Amino acid sequence: MRPVILDVDTGLDDACALLLAARHPELDLKAVTCVGGNVGLDDVVINTLTVLEAAGRTDVPVARGAAVPLLQPVRAAPHVHGTDGLGDLDWPRSTRTTDGRHAVELLRDVLREAAATGELVTLIPLAPMTNIALLLRTYPEAAAGLHEIVFMGGAAGIGNATASAEFNIWTDPEAAAVVLTAAGELGVPVTMYGLDVFYDVVITMEQARGLGGSPSADLARRLIEKRSELYKSDGASIGDGGAVCAVIDPDGLTTQPFPLRVELSGSWSRGRTIVDTRDWAADLSSDPHGPSPTVVQVATAVDGARYAELWLSTVK
Ligand code: BDR
Ligand code: CA
Repeated sequence: MRPVILDVDTGLDDACALLLAARHPELDLKAVTCVGGNVGLDDVVINTLTVLEAAGRTDVPVARGAAVPLLQPVRAAPHVHGTDGLGDLDWPRSTRTTDGRHAVELLRDVLREAAATGELVTLIPLAPMTNIALLLRTYPEAAAGLHEIVFMGGAAGIGNATASAEFNIWTDPEAAAVVLTAAGELGVPVTMYGLDVFYDVVITMEQARGLGGSPSADLARRLIEKRSELYKSDGASIGDGGAVCAVIDPDGLTTQPFPLRVELSGSWSRGRTIVDTRDWAADLSSDPHGPSPTVVQVATAVDGARYAELWLSTVK
Protein backbone atom coordinates (compact mmCIF):
# COMPACT_ATOMS: atom_id res chain seq x y z
CA MET A 1 0.00 0.00 0.00
CA ARG A 2 1.15 3.51 -0.78
CA PRO A 3 1.11 5.89 2.21
CA VAL A 4 -0.50 9.24 1.38
CA ILE A 5 -1.52 12.46 3.13
CA LEU A 6 -4.10 14.86 1.68
CA ASP A 7 -4.02 18.57 2.46
CA VAL A 8 -7.46 19.97 1.66
CA ASP A 9 -9.80 22.97 1.67
CA THR A 10 -12.94 20.80 1.28
CA GLY A 11 -14.65 21.89 -1.26
CA LEU A 12 -16.91 19.74 -3.48
CA ASP A 13 -14.02 18.38 -5.51
CA ASP A 14 -11.76 17.92 -2.48
CA ALA A 15 -14.64 15.74 -1.26
CA CYS A 16 -14.39 13.69 -4.48
CA ALA A 17 -10.67 13.29 -3.78
CA LEU A 18 -11.20 12.34 -0.15
CA LEU A 19 -13.74 9.62 -1.01
CA LEU A 20 -11.28 8.10 -3.46
CA ALA A 21 -8.25 8.28 -1.15
CA ALA A 22 -10.23 6.97 1.82
CA ARG A 23 -11.61 3.97 -0.05
CA HIS A 24 -8.94 2.87 -2.51
CA PRO A 25 -7.35 -0.41 -1.39
CA GLU A 26 -3.89 0.53 -2.63
CA LEU A 27 -3.71 3.75 -0.62
CA ASP A 28 -2.88 4.01 3.05
CA LEU A 29 -4.40 7.35 4.07
CA LYS A 30 -2.20 8.37 6.99
CA ALA A 31 -3.73 11.78 7.74
CA VAL A 32 -5.73 14.66 6.32
CA THR A 33 -4.75 18.25 7.05
CA CYS A 34 -7.04 21.24 6.57
CA VAL A 35 -6.40 24.79 5.40
CA GLY A 36 -8.64 27.78 4.70
CA GLY A 37 -9.41 28.16 1.00
CA ASN A 38 -12.66 27.32 -0.75
CA VAL A 39 -14.39 28.19 2.54
CA GLY A 40 -13.21 29.24 5.98
CA LEU A 41 -11.24 26.77 8.05
CA ASP A 42 -14.13 25.82 10.37
CA ASP A 43 -16.26 24.67 7.44
CA VAL A 44 -13.29 22.97 5.79
CA VAL A 45 -12.74 20.90 8.93
CA ILE A 46 -16.42 19.94 9.30
CA ASN A 47 -16.67 19.05 5.61
CA THR A 48 -13.53 16.92 5.80
CA LEU A 49 -14.75 15.01 8.85
CA THR A 50 -18.17 14.60 7.20
CA VAL A 51 -16.73 13.09 4.02
CA LEU A 52 -14.44 10.72 5.90
CA GLU A 53 -17.41 9.61 7.97
CA ALA A 54 -19.39 8.84 4.81
CA ALA A 55 -16.39 6.87 3.56
CA GLY A 56 -16.37 4.87 6.79
CA ARG A 57 -12.93 6.19 7.74
CA THR A 58 -13.28 7.77 11.17
CA ASP A 59 -9.88 6.23 11.96
CA VAL A 60 -7.99 8.77 9.84
CA PRO A 61 -6.55 11.69 11.86
CA VAL A 62 -7.72 15.12 10.70
CA ALA A 63 -5.95 18.29 11.82
CA ARG A 64 -6.71 22.01 11.64
CA GLY A 65 -4.07 24.05 9.89
CA ALA A 66 -3.66 27.62 8.72
CA ALA A 67 -6.87 29.67 8.60
CA VAL A 68 -5.42 32.35 6.33
CA PRO A 69 -2.73 32.59 3.64
CA LEU A 70 0.75 33.85 4.52
CA LEU A 71 0.23 37.38 3.25
CA GLN A 72 -3.35 38.09 2.29
CA PRO A 73 -6.89 37.36 3.45
CA VAL A 74 -8.66 34.16 2.47
CA ARG A 75 -11.10 34.65 -0.42
CA ALA A 76 -13.73 31.94 -0.39
CA ALA A 77 -15.50 30.60 -3.48
CA PRO A 78 -19.17 30.02 -2.55
CA HIS A 79 -20.16 30.32 -6.23
CA VAL A 80 -18.13 27.14 -6.89
CA HIS A 81 -18.71 25.19 -3.67
CA GLY A 82 -21.85 26.61 -1.96
CA THR A 83 -21.84 28.63 1.24
CA ASP A 84 -20.82 25.69 3.45
CA GLY A 85 -18.24 24.47 0.91
CA LEU A 86 -20.06 21.18 0.42
CA GLY A 87 -22.77 22.45 -1.89
CA ASP A 88 -25.31 23.14 0.90
CA LEU A 89 -26.44 19.57 0.34
CA ASP A 90 -28.45 19.09 3.48
CA TRP A 91 -26.17 16.16 4.32
CA PRO A 92 -25.71 15.47 8.07
CA ARG A 93 -22.66 17.41 9.22
CA SER A 94 -20.06 15.68 11.37
CA THR A 95 -19.76 16.68 15.01
CA ARG A 96 -16.53 14.76 15.56
CA THR A 97 -13.42 16.53 16.78
CA THR A 98 -10.05 16.85 15.15
CA ASP A 99 -6.66 15.52 16.17
CA GLY A 100 -5.29 17.80 18.90
CA ARG A 101 -2.20 18.68 16.87
CA HIS A 102 -1.88 21.58 14.44
CA ALA A 103 -1.70 20.36 10.84
CA VAL A 104 1.99 21.21 10.67
CA GLU A 105 2.69 19.12 13.77
CA LEU A 106 0.64 16.18 12.48
CA LEU A 107 2.47 16.34 9.14
CA ARG A 108 5.81 16.47 10.95
CA ASP A 109 4.96 13.48 13.14
CA VAL A 110 3.69 11.28 10.29
CA LEU A 111 6.66 12.17 8.11
CA ARG A 112 9.14 11.59 10.92
CA GLU A 113 7.71 8.11 11.38
CA ALA A 114 7.84 7.54 7.63
CA ALA A 115 11.51 8.52 7.50
CA ALA A 116 12.22 6.13 10.37
CA THR A 117 10.44 3.16 8.77
CA GLY A 118 11.41 3.92 5.17
CA GLU A 119 7.74 3.86 4.09
CA LEU A 120 7.86 7.25 2.43
CA VAL A 121 4.68 9.26 2.05
CA THR A 122 3.20 10.88 -1.05
CA LEU A 123 1.87 14.29 -0.06
CA ILE A 124 -1.14 15.47 -2.09
CA PRO A 125 -1.91 19.17 -1.54
CA LEU A 126 -5.30 20.03 -3.07
CA ALA A 127 -5.58 23.52 -1.66
CA PRO A 128 -3.58 26.70 -1.03
CA MET A 129 -0.18 25.45 0.13
CA THR A 130 0.03 27.45 3.37
CA ASN A 131 0.37 24.39 5.62
CA ILE A 132 3.00 22.82 3.39
CA ALA A 133 5.10 25.98 3.23
CA LEU A 134 4.99 26.28 7.02
CA LEU A 135 5.96 22.62 7.37
CA LEU A 136 8.94 22.73 5.02
CA ARG A 137 10.29 25.95 6.55
CA THR A 138 9.66 24.98 10.19
CA TYR A 139 10.67 21.32 9.96
CA PRO A 140 12.73 20.87 6.78
CA GLU A 141 13.90 17.50 8.10
CA ALA A 142 10.32 16.26 7.52
CA ALA A 143 11.19 16.13 3.81
CA ALA A 144 13.12 12.92 4.57
CA GLY A 145 9.74 11.23 5.01
CA LEU A 146 8.43 12.34 1.63
CA HIS A 147 8.39 10.18 -1.47
CA GLU A 148 7.00 13.01 -3.60
CA ILE A 149 4.54 15.89 -3.70
CA VAL A 150 1.69 15.71 -6.23
CA PHE A 151 -0.23 18.97 -5.97
CA MET A 152 -3.38 20.31 -7.60
CA GLY A 153 -2.75 23.89 -8.56
CA GLY A 154 -1.47 26.17 -11.25
CA ALA A 155 -1.67 25.89 -15.01
CA ALA A 156 0.55 26.17 -18.02
CA GLY A 157 -2.42 27.72 -19.82
CA ILE A 158 -5.15 30.00 -18.54
CA GLY A 159 -6.33 30.41 -14.96
CA ASN A 160 -9.72 30.22 -13.26
CA ALA A 161 -9.59 32.60 -10.28
CA THR A 162 -8.22 35.17 -12.71
CA ALA A 163 -7.33 34.97 -16.38
CA SER A 164 -3.77 34.27 -15.26
CA ALA A 165 -3.99 32.35 -12.05
CA GLU A 166 -5.45 29.14 -10.71
CA PHE A 167 -7.34 29.44 -7.38
CA ASN A 168 -5.03 27.46 -5.06
CA ILE A 169 -1.89 29.31 -6.15
CA TRP A 170 -3.70 32.67 -6.41
CA THR A 171 -4.95 32.29 -2.82
CA ASP A 172 -1.44 31.90 -1.40
CA PRO A 173 1.23 32.61 -4.02
CA GLU A 174 3.98 33.07 -1.43
CA ALA A 175 3.26 29.64 0.05
CA ALA A 176 3.41 28.00 -3.38
CA ALA A 177 6.72 29.74 -4.10
CA VAL A 178 8.13 28.60 -0.76
CA VAL A 179 7.05 25.00 -1.40
CA LEU A 180 8.62 24.94 -4.87
CA THR A 181 11.86 26.46 -3.62
CA ALA A 182 12.04 24.22 -0.57
CA ALA A 183 11.25 21.10 -2.60
CA GLY A 184 14.09 22.00 -4.97
CA GLU A 185 16.49 22.58 -2.08
CA LEU A 186 15.46 19.44 -0.22
CA GLY A 187 15.36 17.18 -3.28
CA VAL A 188 11.65 16.32 -3.11
CA PRO A 189 10.17 15.37 -6.52
CA VAL A 190 7.10 17.43 -7.43
CA THR A 191 4.27 16.88 -9.91
CA MET A 192 1.89 19.70 -10.83
CA TYR A 193 -1.65 18.49 -11.62
CA GLY A 194 -2.91 21.80 -12.93
CA LEU A 195 -5.86 23.24 -14.78
CA ASP A 196 -4.47 21.89 -18.05
CA VAL A 197 -5.91 18.50 -17.01
CA PHE A 198 -8.18 19.37 -14.06
CA TYR A 199 -11.44 19.56 -16.02
CA ASP A 200 -10.80 16.46 -18.14
CA VAL A 201 -11.88 13.70 -15.73
CA VAL A 202 -15.64 13.92 -16.11
CA ILE A 203 -18.43 11.86 -14.56
CA THR A 204 -21.58 12.04 -16.68
CA MET A 205 -24.97 12.42 -15.04
CA GLU A 206 -25.85 8.95 -16.31
CA GLN A 207 -22.79 7.52 -14.54
CA ALA A 208 -23.59 9.53 -11.40
CA ARG A 209 -27.17 8.25 -11.34
CA GLY A 210 -25.75 4.72 -11.15
CA LEU A 211 -24.12 5.50 -7.81
CA GLY A 212 -25.99 4.66 -4.61
CA GLY A 213 -26.66 2.14 -1.91
CA SER A 214 -23.99 3.21 0.58
CA PRO A 215 -23.19 6.52 2.30
CA SER A 216 -20.05 6.86 0.18
CA ALA A 217 -21.84 6.22 -3.11
CA ASP A 218 -24.79 8.42 -2.14
CA LEU A 219 -22.47 11.30 -1.26
CA ALA A 220 -20.46 10.75 -4.45
CA ARG A 221 -23.64 11.04 -6.52
CA ARG A 222 -24.76 14.18 -4.67
CA LEU A 223 -21.35 15.81 -5.19
CA ILE A 224 -21.45 15.25 -8.95
CA GLU A 225 -25.08 16.37 -9.17
CA LYS A 226 -24.26 19.59 -7.31
CA ARG A 227 -21.14 20.31 -9.35
CA SER A 228 -23.14 19.72 -12.55
CA GLU A 229 -25.79 22.12 -11.32
CA LEU A 230 -23.25 24.81 -10.37
CA TYR A 231 -21.38 24.46 -13.67
CA LYS A 232 -24.68 24.19 -15.61
CA SER A 233 -23.38 21.07 -17.36
CA ASP A 234 -24.51 17.49 -17.93
CA GLY A 235 -21.96 15.90 -15.62
CA ALA A 236 -18.95 17.27 -13.81
CA SER A 237 -15.26 16.81 -13.37
CA ILE A 238 -13.93 15.28 -10.16
CA GLY A 239 -11.40 18.12 -10.06
CA ASP A 240 -9.00 17.51 -7.16
CA GLY A 241 -9.93 13.82 -7.35
CA GLY A 242 -7.87 13.55 -10.52
CA ALA A 243 -4.68 14.27 -8.58
CA VAL A 244 -5.39 11.28 -6.37
CA CYS A 245 -6.03 9.16 -9.49
CA ALA A 246 -2.60 10.27 -10.73
CA VAL A 247 -0.99 8.85 -7.59
CA ILE A 248 -2.87 5.55 -7.85
CA ASP A 249 -2.42 5.17 -11.62
CA PRO A 250 0.41 7.39 -12.88
CA ASP A 251 0.29 5.80 -16.35
CA GLY A 252 -2.98 7.62 -17.00
CA LEU A 253 -1.20 10.96 -16.81
CA THR A 254 1.26 12.48 -19.27
CA THR A 255 3.83 14.79 -17.71
CA GLN A 256 6.86 16.71 -18.87
CA PRO A 257 9.63 18.23 -16.77
CA PHE A 258 9.67 22.02 -16.86
CA PRO A 259 11.15 24.73 -14.65
CA LEU A 260 8.34 26.30 -12.64
CA ARG A 261 8.07 29.69 -10.96
CA VAL A 262 5.22 31.52 -9.24
CA GLU A 263 4.47 35.13 -10.17
CA LEU A 264 4.42 37.10 -6.90
CA SER A 265 3.65 40.53 -8.30
CA GLY A 266 2.12 41.83 -11.51
CA SER A 267 -1.11 43.81 -11.81
CA TRP A 268 -3.00 41.01 -13.51
CA SER A 269 -0.71 38.03 -13.19
CA ARG A 270 -0.11 37.55 -9.44
CA GLY A 271 -0.40 33.86 -8.59
CA ARG A 272 0.29 32.64 -12.10
CA THR A 273 2.51 29.58 -12.46
CA ILE A 274 5.16 30.31 -15.05
CA VAL A 275 5.92 27.04 -16.83
CA ASP A 276 9.11 27.52 -18.79
CA THR A 277 8.57 25.47 -21.94
CA ARG A 278 11.43 26.98 -23.89
CA ASP A 279 13.61 24.36 -25.59
CA TRP A 280 16.67 25.02 -23.53
CA ALA A 281 14.83 25.69 -20.26
CA ALA A 282 15.38 22.33 -18.60
CA ASP A 283 19.11 22.99 -18.79
CA LEU A 284 19.03 25.45 -15.92
CA SER A 285 22.70 26.26 -16.20
CA SER A 286 21.80 28.26 -19.31
CA ASP A 287 19.23 30.41 -17.52
CA PRO A 288 20.83 33.82 -17.24
CA HIS A 289 18.19 35.14 -14.87
CA GLY A 290 18.56 32.87 -11.78
CA PRO A 291 17.95 31.93 -9.07
CA SER A 292 17.32 28.55 -10.61
CA PRO A 293 13.66 27.54 -10.52
CA THR A 294 12.63 24.07 -9.43
CA VAL A 295 12.03 21.58 -12.22
CA VAL A 296 8.61 19.99 -11.82
CA GLN A 297 6.75 17.25 -13.68
CA VAL A 298 3.92 19.23 -15.27
CA ALA A 299 0.77 17.31 -16.26
CA THR A 300 0.05 17.99 -19.91
CA ALA A 301 -2.62 15.37 -20.70
CA VAL A 302 -4.80 12.87 -18.87
CA ASP A 303 -6.75 9.76 -19.84
CA GLY A 304 -10.04 11.13 -18.51
CA ALA A 305 -12.15 8.01 -19.16
CA ARG A 306 -9.63 5.82 -17.35
CA TYR A 307 -9.58 8.05 -14.27
CA ALA A 308 -13.37 8.46 -14.28
CA GLU A 309 -13.71 4.68 -14.20
CA LEU A 310 -11.13 4.45 -11.40
CA TRP A 311 -13.11 6.96 -9.34
CA LEU A 312 -16.51 5.40 -10.02
CA SER A 313 -15.38 1.87 -9.22
CA THR A 314 -13.79 2.99 -5.94
CA VAL A 315 -16.44 5.29 -4.47
CA LYS A 316 -19.43 3.12 -5.34
C1 BDR B 1 -8.92 24.31 -7.13
O1 BDR B 1 -9.52 25.35 -6.38
C2 BDR B 1 -10.66 24.86 -5.69
O2 BDR B 1 -11.84 25.49 -6.11
C3 BDR B 1 -10.76 23.41 -5.96
O3 BDR B 1 -11.06 22.73 -4.78
C4 BDR B 1 -9.41 23.05 -6.52
O4 BDR B 1 -8.51 22.63 -5.54
C5 BDR B 1 -9.19 24.50 -8.59
O5 BDR B 1 -8.71 25.73 -8.99
CA1 CA C 1 -9.29 22.09 -3.29
